[in-house]
Amino acid sequence: MLTLAARMSRAKPSAIMIVADKAKQLKAAGRDIISFSIGVPNFLPGPHVYDAVREALTKDSGQYGSNRGDNALLDAFLKHMEEGGLTGYSRNNIAVAIGAKHVLYNLAEALLDPGDTIAFAVPYWTTYVDIADIVEAKAKLLPCPASQNYKLTPAQLDAALPGVKVFLFNNPCNPTGMVYTKDEIAALADVLVKHPDTWVICDDIYNRMVFDGVGYHNFVQARPELRDRVIHVDSLSKTYGMPGWRVGFVAAPEKAAQAIVTLNSNHITNLPEIVTAAAIAALSGPQDVPKQKCAEFQAKRDQVLAAVTSIPGVVCPRPEGAFYVFPDISVAFGKSHNGTKIANDVDLCNTLLESKGVACVPGSAFGEPKALRISYTCPTNQLAEGLRRFVEFFAELK
Ligand SMILES: Cc1ncc(COP(=O)(O)O)c(C=O)c1O
Repeated sequence: MLTLAARMSRAKPSAIMIVADKAKQLKAAGRDIISFSIGVPNFLPGPHVYDAVREALTKDSGQYGSNRGDNALLDAFLKHMEEGGLTGYSRNNIAVAIGAKHVLYNLAEALLDPGDTIAFAVPYWTTYVDIADIVEAKAKLLPCPASQNYKLTPAQLDAALPGVKVFLFNNPCNPTGMVYTKDEIAALADVLVKHPDTWVICDDIYNRMVFDGVGYHNFVQARPELRDRVIHVDSLSKTYGMPGWRVGFVAAPEKAAQAIVTLNSNHITNLPEIVTAAAIAALSGPQDVPKQKCAEFQAKRDQVLAAVTSIPGVVCPRPEGAFYVFPDISVAFGKSHNGTKIANDVDLCNTLLESKGVACVPGSAFGEPKALRISYTCPTNQLAEGLRRFVEFFAELK
């Protein structure tokens, strides 16, 4: 009999895509659906990106490119990092990949042997668990419920780290939108210094989407001695409205960056020239689109937060980045909507979608079954209508 490799029995389709697909099917069947499900920025990059692509088409070399990434792209990314406060890196510290997801998968392959432990906070971005599973690593989950603002505490980290090969940290966080303050980062960095055998991967892809003047802070700024084992992951997907272009970056100690280059040489070889041109233009060109979008997301965050916290019993720590709100909706469990019993987050999201045409992702997809995720990048009129239906749904629960 022909069989698949055993690891494929551990590989699961993304829970987020399952909700998004169901919403799409209902829409195709003529239902009026408002999607708060998939985490896409919902805007396009500025015209200079398309101009750069047209220009690149006239110069296509048709050849293979660098496994690390084109020098001009590496330099553009280094400058972008410097502007974000990460200085002192050189081309040897950088490598490109097909999006941050690919960077994370490559890092798992490069750093984790079967049986090694990778630790991360719960709620987590769903793919973290799946990547750990595929490389046969043990995931150590560090619960951070709404009652602790969905944030990891230094004491919790200190207790968890012995025996952990990789600590994976996501700031700003998907699904909670939480952003660690400068002091919180410094306190966690002090703990990391005490555990020299642990690599630290910072999935910072939402670092330009921070609100309320909180700012983006990182461990290397707080404790420069961590530089030799902190790895930054970044991407153009969210900041520049380019999720489909598939451009991700890693900034790491040379040994780790070189490992990604080696994997690239066997997996993808290089980023396409056209994509490289678009990426250079996005990073080096005018930054008005990302800045304007960040301001719009902050206003939408306010709108969502006002709606969800108007519902009696719903608890929601205030997100200060990315484009997600993650309310604890467990107050609804045990109630019914027009005769349909709501036992848990999945029932709630299904009933909400069926009855009101509003698609959210159940919190259990992120390891927190008391919550659900609202991704709020849809057009303002849809957001207002979706929130109206959301609030109405809770008011109808008995
Ligand atoms: C926290 C986090 N990391 C990584 C990714 C992957 O991004 P990319 O599109 O660059 O692969 C996502 C996408 O949703 C994300 O939310």
